[in-house]
Amino acid sequence: MRLILLGAPGAGKGTQAKFICERFSIPQISTGDMLRAAIKQGSELGRQVEQVMKEGKLVSDDLIVALVEERIREPDCANGFLLDGFPRTIAQADALKAAAVSIDHVVEIAVPDEEIISRLSGRRVHPDSGRIYHLEHNPPKVEGKDDVTGDALIQRDDDKPETVRHRLDTYHQQTEPLVGYYRDWAASEPDSAPKCHRVEGVGDLEQIRARLLAVLEG
Ligand code: AP5
Repeated sequence: MRLILLGAPGAGKGTQAKFICERFSIPQISTGDMLRAAIKQGSELGRQVEQVMKEGKLVSDDLIVALVEERIREPDCANGFLLDGFPRTIAQADALKAAAVSIDHVVEIAVPDEEIISRLSGRRVHPDSGRIYHLEHNPPKVEGKDDVTGDALIQRDDDKPETVRHRLDTYHQQTEPLVGYYRDWAASEPDSAPKCHRVEGVGDLEQIRARLLAVLEG
């Protein structure tokens, strides 16, 4: 099972990725989580990307492609993986194709912009594990604390309203065209292209899980 989850910031990619990865026993490769970990470690990569991410802009294609190509060669990816947040530009999708990395499914989680803004303002995360909560829709058992470790939850720097609007613009301009890119590829080369699916991302988490499983297992 090799799949790509597409969707706007806050569409629920990370939330649903956790469930899909458990179900299929595959690793979640979240480029956003990898970059945030690099910032936290204070590595050279982290220093390069910190300001770009705070402003809600995209990190350079070359840097991200190198990071993902290295990650998917690791042994835990031998039986598959889920790409969350990659590719995010046509250039990144072209690089994946040129590297002959075959993908089974591309799934777009569709959520309107108004819903995204409300979701991201209420999001809280556990930075070490990447576990994701929402103040109203998916609250932790104890307010402000991670369910597993009890550590304090934080709000991401790029979840401020003005940055969220910028991220949404970037999504519509640079990432949404990938839906057409994969659909065109599937239409012209149905045997080698990934299968494309669109899943409505509004509703409770269980409903969306069921929709995702229906397309992945159906
Ligand atoms: P990244 O970390 O990938 O962020 P993103 O794509 O903007 O996605 P998010 O993590 O914000 O949202 P999500 O869809 O995972 O939603 P979630 O499940 O958390 O990227 C961050 C930055 O890194 C980028 O801006 C860029 O700078 C850089 N970057 C990363 N990859 C890159 C690349 N390939 N190229 C260049 N730069 C790159 O859900 C959101 C909230 O909603 C949560 O609180 C959740 O609990 C709640 N929620 C989820 N589902 C529902 C539901 N059904 N109903 C109600 N609430 C829900």
